[in-house]
Amino acid sequence: MDNILVTGGAGFIGSHTVIELLNAGYNVIVLDNLVNSSRESLERVKKITGRSVKFYEDDLLDMEALQNIFEKENISSVIHFAGLKAVGESCEIPLAYFNNNITGTINLLMAMEKYNVKSFVFSSSATVYGKPESVPIREDFPLSVSNPYGRTKLMIEDMLRDIYKADTSWDIALLRYFNPIGAHESGEIGESPNGIPNNLLPYVAKVATGELEAVNVFGDDYDTPDGTGVRDYIHVADLAEGHIKALEKLSTHPGLVTYNLGTGKGYSVLEIIHNFEKACGKEIPYKITERRPGDIDMCYADPEKAKKELGWEARRDIDKMCEDAWRWQSKYPNGL
Ligand code: NAD
Ligand code: UFG
Repeated sequence: MDNILVTGGAGFIGSHTVIELLNAGYNVIVLDNLVNSSRESLERVKKITGRSVKFYEDDLLDMEALQNIFEKENISSVIHFAGLKAVGESCEIPLAYFNNNITGTINLLMAMEKYNVKSFVFSSSATVYGKPESVPIREDFPLSVSNPYGRTKLMIEDMLRDIYKADTSWDIALLRYFNPIGAHESGEIGESPNGIPNNLLPYVAKVATGELEAVNVFGDDYDTPDGTGVRDYIHVADLAEGHIKALEKLSTHPGLVTYNLGTGKGYSVLEIIHNFEKACGKEIPYKITERRPGDIDMCYADPEKAKKELGWEARRDIDKMCEDAWRWQSKYPNGL
């Protein structure tokens, strides 16, 4: 079976995808510098699947280390998750984001080219749609960004489009994730951000355990049914399955393809809080505060293209997302 290099494979989405890859029979090689994850996640992956992965604790900025991996392993495709992802932080230290995400990706692509590996799956984001003119969002909507993190995603997408134009022997899947949440249903792996979470779900989960006092709902005067922001939350296991479908697609040599990975359904902040209350059986205190700068009112996908061309669609509903997130959070309140 094929050897798949997974960069950032110890992280949140990466580790869930590694499980799906192992279950599908692929051999997995993980490269991760553990800047935002721990080795333990791969131990848990082994516990869940009964299979182990080959792990390189290396940095994408280390070209020699990268080449060493391609030299040793007979890689057939790369799934590229590694990157820094905090929007707020990216505004404070943009250069570090450009260096890590863009230079890191260039190094990876150069090593791939050198070793003639030309099958690539990239973790893009719905952030590349900026402030969409309407919802649901289709892949052919105009692209724009409003922060350095988003810029790294759009720049890498642009680079990949140029690389493909110049050399059509590449097969590239740009996967634009909407809002990944939830955890593996075993409760053994999940999302554990350092410090106070920026994203809604991990914040709500920590209010549920009592670690944080109340959820700050960033604005209730948006143009949405209840006034709070609407997003397309997707179970991380569904997202992981989308990567297997993308790899299968690349094996048919489609060239460069772009897909939204979302459910097509939007939930408001208040709906998320109430769904989480159901999952954990507790009341979740919240207060309405100022809007967070840069936030948009509504963002949800039109997932039809992925359904038609990849034969993929999200299967897990919002209840399942909250139940699985809560199982993980209550079992391991301090993460791994
Ligand atoms: P994560 O932080 O859990 O995983 C990223 C992994 O990359 C971490 O394990 C980190 O240690 C590693 N990493 C970072 N820089 C590295 C480097 N220079 N060399 C080697 N390893 C490095 O994040 P995640 O939520 O799993 O996100 C995975 C990818 O999906 C990222 O590219 C992210 O931008 C993208 N994405 C995430 C979301 C989201 O909401 N979680 C949404 C859209 C897109
Ligand atoms: N929100 C709150 N309180 C919080 C956190 C968030 O009310 O404490 C609200 C936000 O205003 C927004 C919604 O909850 O309406 C979701 O916010 P998140 O921070 O969880 O997610 P975003 O949609 O802002 O952004 C996420 C990732 C980005 C990615 C984007 C699209 O953080 O990196 O999804 O994929 F680009």
